[in-house]
Amino acid sequence: MSSPFDIGLVPGDGTGPEVLREGRKVVSAAAKKYGFNINFIDYDLGGDRFLATGDLLPDSVLSEFRDLDAIYLGAIGHPEVKPGILEKGILLNMRFELDLYINLRPVTLYPGVATPLADKKPEDVDFVVVRENTEGLYAGAGGFLKKGTPQEVATQESINTRLGVERCLRYAFEYARDRRERQKLTLCGKTNVLTYAFDLWERAFNELAAEYPEVETDYAHVDATCMWMIKNPEWFDVIVTDNMFGDIITDLGAMIQGGMGIAAGGNIHPGKVSMFEPIGGSAPKYTGQNVINPLAAIAAGQMMLAELGENEAAGGLERAIKKTLVEDIQDLGAGKMGHSTSGVGDLVVKYLLDQNLTD
Ligand code: IPM
Ligand code: MN
Repeated sequence: MSSPFDIGLVPGDGTGPEVLREGRKVVSAAAKKYGFNINFIDYDLGGDRFLATGDLLPDSVLSEFRDLDAIYLGAIGHPEVKPGILEKGILLNMRFELDLYINLRPVTLYPGVATPLADKKPEDVDFVVVRENTEGLYAGAGGFLKKGTPQEVATQESINTRLGVERCLRYAFEYARDRRERQKLTLCGKTNVLTYAFDLWERAFNELAAEYPEVETDYAHVDATCMWMIKNPEWFDVIVTDNMFGDIITDLGAMIQGGMGIAAGGNIHPGKVSMFEPIGGSAPKYTGQNVINPLAAIAAGQMMLAELGENEAAGGLERAIKKTLVEDIQDLGAGKMGHSTSGVGDLVVKYLLDQNLTD
């Protein structure tokens, strides 16, 4: 058997530890079934540690992270810590410092899951958003002038580098090329107003398109993208966009795939350590009640296995998630599943282990 994968666990805040416990349970079961080993390493980053010590993401932890195969995160966000401190200091810092330049967010409506879109079925809601994850409005460029005075000026600049834009687009073209038969990549931007940033995106997109003739290309403004995601989600296959627009449209995406209980994402630097997380928050009001839905964390585990090259295990896990949704889950909302958090994890493990490897 090959050497184990070193996976850092960051349970974090609120319901993060509860959902990650189920994720770990399921991923461990997949490792056993598919014949690979995982060495889990715990990291106590989050609000409690910050309140006790002032630590956010210490350099020593970052340097250990660089040597891991993957990081698996529960949630960051603590009711006693001012919004922004933990998010910027831990989550965004991890994305920047580890240069996790892709935020991959599938929008998949699984069978048995209710969508707010009337008449839309699983085959209609099945696309992936490739969000640039290290630049744009998130880069932190800007500042105040005359802060606190009536003349105050606040600026926030969107930083778009040719390198950053191009590597994100290249990833998206290759993802679209390899995803399935239908190969379509839509650039989501705002070329009619953001005439610098999205001019660069559009030029780089058109240049790369020539290298990937098999991928059909399309363009939609971000506002129109929101409209089509509701009206005709079946038009999309892979969407590539900048950091801010990607943040916004993937919350919309989470809603049409059934809510935060199922939406997962990967923060990826191809070939290096990447981080996987459920995209919902820490849901403090449900903490410790064993009622929160762990499926988003479990789906993040599935993405992690795929990124680690364990595609068969990832496929088996996806089938187990689908079966749990069809057979057992009443509603994806916290406390409405008809099962506890740990009960859902147990069901996924059961269906995973029940499958023949050739299923
Ligand atoms: C997300 C979150 C983060 C973001 C926040 C918590 C900083 O909303 O992962 O989408 O804006 O990227
Ligand atoms: Mn977000």
